[in-house]
Amino acid sequence: MKTRLSVTMGSFLFTSLLLAAPNKKLVLTDINLLEQANIKPLLVDEATGIATAEVSGLQESMLIRKSHENGRCAGFELLDNNFSKVDFKKVISQINARKKMDEKEMKSFRRLRSRTAVSEAIANVSPANIKGWVDWLSAFGTRYHKGPKPNDHVVALQNRLDEELKKYSSLKASTSLISHTSTGQKTLRLTIPGKTRPEEIVAMGAHLDSINMGFLGPTNGKAPGSDDDASGSASILEALGHILEMAPYDRTIEMFWYAGEEAGLLGSKEVAASYKSESKKVVGVLQLDMTLYPGSGGNNIASMTDYTSPEMRNLLTEFNRLYLNVNIIDDKCGYGCSDHASWYKNGYPTLMPTEATFNQMNKQIHGVNDTVNSGSSFEHAAIFSKIAIAFASHLANP
Ligand code: BES
Ligand code: ZN
Repeated sequence: MKTRLSVTMGSFLFTSLLLAAPNKKLVLTDINLLEQANIKPLLVDEATGIATAEVSGLQESMLIRKSHENGRCAGFELLDNNFSKVDFKKVISQINARKKMDEKEMKSFRRLRSRTAVSEAIANVSPANIKGWVDWLSAFGTRYHKGPKPNDHVVALQNRLDEELKKYSSLKASTSLISHTSTGQKTLRLTIPGKTRPEEIVAMGAHLDSINMGFLGPTNGKAPGSDDDASGSASILEALGHILEMAPYDRTIEMFWYAGEEAGLLGSKEVAASYKSESKKVVGVLQLDMTLYPGSGGNNIASMTDYTSPEMRNLLTEFNRLYLNVNIIDDKCGYGCSDHASWYKNGYPTLMPTEATFNQMNKQIHGVNDTVNSGSSFEHAAIFSKIAIAFASHLANP
């Protein structure tokens, strides 16, 4: 900010000292107060409104009266006779420097506040809620994409989400079922429209289907799929509550519960391809597939480095530093093992943190014993809800 000095006429005009007449005092005050008291200023800095004046005893009492009327104390600072124009400039530049620092601090304070909001949400993630969702999804018997009723659980979940969204009507969030050509099962999508960049999408998801690859086969065998992937679905669902509480966001947030992943990433393949063909801008895709079994230890998770993007993995490292404080082990599936691969192949940046390293993951998946049992840890699954919350809030409010 530029300091402009306007100098009024006076006997001291040509000296640098603002010498007051023998029976008068020099004061530093606000130009508005001087105007209210009908006193002419000597020097005025227009940007800050700070001024100096020479006042008689009577004018001094007038200043005090006016200042009291404004609910303040004296409202001026007495200056000694050595006070010069240079001193005045110094005062103004000090004030301006402080203002700049204040502006900077306000900015960093805002950053801190947004992080505090995320920290609070993360602290409130509930392993018990995640258990509620996993138990509920596991109870469908199977969620196989070619089962007799492949969309029962999909529609049931949509109904529960629609009920939840009624509490947040001002957000205009909605759910939709996406039909596919490769499977009769539908993908469920929840959309929270962004306020300022609605065309930019932050995506996260999990596959809602399950499969039995045991001797009874996928059609007859039960497939509770508690870990694979009711757990990832539930970690997203628990994150959703907290994400809604912090809404709105600049960017659009989309959550997916994919169809037919177990039969070859069927749902996500079609979704990602259609997003690409419509030139949709997706700034990041988080995939949660298996979050319940701490096979590499409770404080360890894996981050898959194949079919994922380095900048997204760096983001995970950053979230870990800020909010999680776990060990992240880089590992590979070695093939496109889940829905993130569909997005990645269509050119979108992806992230795939998972319960354990590939070799230490849950061996009970794809069978009747993929249940909630003594090996399950909802505290572990909660880590992934926290990642989803950080992912949504940081990416959707860039
Ligand atoms: N949940 C698995 C993928 C997985 C495996 C994630 C190990 C993390 C560690 C997924 O549901 C699955 O079973 N994928 C298939 C491949 C897919 C293309 C049919 C698999 O891994 O065989
Ligand atoms: Zn699987």
